[in-house]
Amino acid sequence: MNFLGVDLGTSSVKIVIMNDAGQVIASISKDYDVSYPKVNWAEQNPEDWWNATRDGIRELVKSSNVDGASIKGIGFSGQMHGLVLLDKEGNVLRPAILWCDQRTQEECNYLNNEIGQDKISLYTGNMALTGFTAPKLLWVKKHEKEIFDKIAHILLPKDYIRYKLTREFATDVSDASGMLMLDVKERKWSKEMLDILQINEEVLPKVYESWEVTGKLTKEVAEYTGLTEETVVVGGAGDQAAGAVGTGIVKSGILSVALGTSGVVFASSDNYEVDEANRLHSFCHSNGKWHQMGVMLSAASCLKWWVEDINKDVQKDAFESLLKEASESPAGSNGVVFLPYLMGERTPYSDPDAKGVFFGLNITTSRADMTRAVLEGVCFGLRDSLEILKSLNVPVEAVRVSGGGAKSPLWRQILSDIFGVRVQVISSKEGPAYGAAILAAVGCGLYKTVDEACEKLIKVTASVDPIPENVEKYNNIYRVYNSLYPILKESFKEINKLQ
Ligand code: XUL
Repeated sequence: MNFLGVDLGTSSVKIVIMNDAGQVIASISKDYDVSYPKVNWAEQNPEDWWNATRDGIRELVKSSNVDGASIKGIGFSGQMHGLVLLDKEGNVLRPAILWCDQRTQEECNYLNNEIGQDKISLYTGNMALTGFTAPKLLWVKKHEKEIFDKIAHILLPKDYIRYKLTREFATDVSDASGMLMLDVKERKWSKEMLDILQINEEVLPKVYESWEVTGKLTKEVAEYTGLTEETVVVGGAGDQAAGAVGTGIVKSGILSVALGTSGVVFASSDNYEVDEANRLHSFCHSNGKWHQMGVMLSAASCLKWWVEDINKDVQKDAFESLLKEASESPAGSNGVVFLPYLMGERTPYSDPDAKGVFFGLNITTSRADMTRAVLEGVCFGLRDSLEILKSLNVPVEAVRVSGGGAKSPLWRQILSDIFGVRVQVISSKEGPAYGAAILAAVGCGLYKTVDEACEKLIKVTASVDPIPENVEKYNNIYRVYNSLYPILKESFKEINKLQ
């Protein structure tokens, strides 16, 4: 028996085949573009996701020599919050508005201030944030009424792929939590919230738990990909919940930190918990429980921007050579501090106008210092979420890191030093895609529960401990980092107006 994990990310789709011993035996990745039609807007064409996924599965099945009939189930991990709109024939009505798109401040103000944050939080467990799906829907209603009137189905990104694979309209509780339409406590659509948004439940997909079977492949898809009509598709999860399964974060004590395009600090909890001020997201987890998390909008994407856009003249092994250079700059980057708000910020500031900043430059500052400052700035941003979790008495024994940034030993050490905790490295390198495959294996009955699967499959292989003198140094710099946003907040707005 084999299983597919499909991680529909922001820059690529990654697909893995996991065998019944829980080993990843083959994988493939296919890239697609994000378009930024205006500052802080981000869109993607759902057909690009579909073409990449469909061709990726087909190529992977062929190149791995795995018998298609042995692949019993498919699970998803999906970039969250994106708004995908279909008409009644199932055609895409407009490009998907992505999780990092920040155009909906007015709609969020309406929901949080006019309807009231306390009501929204009571119904959904969260406050309205610009990235969430419901404010995007209100934006389309206001600015693109002709499109809004044609909406027959509202889907999240991975659920569009599910629709193309199975023709079923379905989602899972963890991803649906980020729509601001789900009653997270009860794990079903919130009637009150749908009333506020004036939408009918019929346009929404059916909600499942992450391991539950939602459908089977259509004949056409089975033929194209080399799989069979018996291959089942399970609910899957939002990328953070899937990544937590892939790193074994299914109970409290150990946190998941994702250094992907976004940066996330994630704590699993046995009960439904909401921070009074909604500083963290309270979402359903994909193991039948819940989780709280803080999300930075730009994490590994800050390094990508620094290496690929700003230093694009570095020709050979750019990432490797710039990271090597950065390792020669000392902890604290010789006084350079980077604010990583390249796409605005979500946690802890919820401010679309926030901007990236290099602070503390002097005549001796080198590129190595600036590269290191980028790595440190992202970890300081993550520490903001860690501090909120700690203030809520969430136990933090260690963290497990995943995502592209986790591959860098330097970045792992900086994270451990800035958090002041042990960073564990686990056996699987695939994070969300692996978590997605595990969900499929649970759905096909190989394991009784998601927790049991994690217990059997996820092993810690190495760990990085904080270096005491760096911890102290970073504690002091973190205070400076923390003082900068409040000072600059109005200036960010000013410079925005002048664009
Ligand atoms: C989670 C979030 C990101 C995106 C993209 O709330 O916005 O994790 O799903 O990675």
